[in-house]
Amino acid sequence: MQPVKIAEDIYWVGAIDWDVRNFHGYTTQRGASYNAYLIVDENITLIDTVKPQFCDEMLKRISQVVEPEKIDYIIANHVEMDHSGSLPLVMERAKNATVITSPKGLQGLKKHYKKEWNFQAVKTGDNLNIGKRNISFILTPMVHWPDNMIGYLVEDKILFSNDAFGQHLASSERFDDQLPLQIVLEEAKKYYGNIVLPYGNQVAKALEAAADLDIEIIAPSHGVIWRSHIPEIIEQYRKWCANETEEAAVIIYDTMWTSTEKIAYAVQAAFEAKGIPTKMRNLKTNHISDIITDVVTAKYICVGSPTLNNNMLPTVAGFLTYLKGLAPKNRVGLAFGSYGWGGQSVSQVEAVLEECGFDLLKQVKVQYIPDDSELQEITDKLKGELS
Ligand code: FEO
Repeated sequence: MQPVKIAEDIYWVGAIDWDVRNFHGYTTQRGASYNAYLIVDENITLIDTVKPQFCDEMLKRISQVVEPEKIDYIIANHVEMDHSGSLPLVMERAKNATVITSPKGLQGLKKHYKKEWNFQAVKTGDNLNIGKRNISFILTPMVHWPDNMIGYLVEDKILFSNDAFGQHLASSERFDDQLPLQIVLEEAKKYYGNIVLPYGNQVAKALEAAADLDIEIIAPSHGVIWRSHIPEIIEQYRKWCANETEEAAVIIYDTMWTSTEKIAYAVQAAFEAKGIPTKMRNLKTNHISDIITDVVTAKYICVGSPTLNNNMLPTVAGFLTYLKGLAPKNRVGLAFGSYGWGGQSVSQVEAVLEECGFDLLKQVKVQYIPDDSELQEITDKLKGELS
């Protein structure tokens, strides 16, 4: 329960959730952390809190530096309970603290906790002087809720970015250079895909607003703190929010008697023949939140389902609902599947891909079991379309 010093008089005082494996539907195989930060200046300032069940852990860390009763300001960058959930308990200790939040944050916190704490709403460009230091605020609505904001600690050049640049990753290491970069970037990509992807335009605006800042540390609210690989994560965010894709295909399917699976591999053969890397994602063995990590950068999204009771399979419908909500742009879709008699599934899949705004390749549909010549024909036709 030690605090971790990230700069002079500035500490990470958050909590590590080693056990969480599902974060509102997102699988978190590596667990998570909820990052809170303490700045010891003339006014003691706490930036964000943690999930309520981890409040004690956070308070123990804070207590190693300063008594929680001495906290003057609590900056609530985001209302979601993984960050604001401990506010009621902290405010019981720090009774005179002022909660600094965005105008939407003010509304959201009042609705969540029904408390009349000392609140101060801030907007982009507002400055909070805490003694020798100043925190400048930028509202970042929809990264991830309407209430989000970020804070820049001017003198120490630290950006407290809340959900942006986060990763769900439990570790005793606190910094990006203490773990293999590929793992951290992969978790950042999964986090972006599952949490931030629908808000690319707002992310772009936030990046623009932060572009003029001289940043030495990015301290997000989840995962490790960026101090050595800031250009890398900024560049990834720039690409992701612009929906810049790679020549790569994700082939997502479920299958009843393996016919749709056979088609999936015939589709893969076409991409392979064109030198386009593929990922095969059987919905029986892959969680939708892991598949979204691939979707973040893949240009081609191929989705297959057989027909069951005049419909696509529920697993495929669930994936498509999730995909549509996350709203990736600039993709090319392909619907495929086998059928016995009705055969409605392929057009249903295609309709959703169209609703996503994807350009469409010609759908592939085979009755009963595709034989080798039918599979070869699928591959050849698709190769022709990819030319
Ligand atoms: Fe980490 Fe949107 O909360």
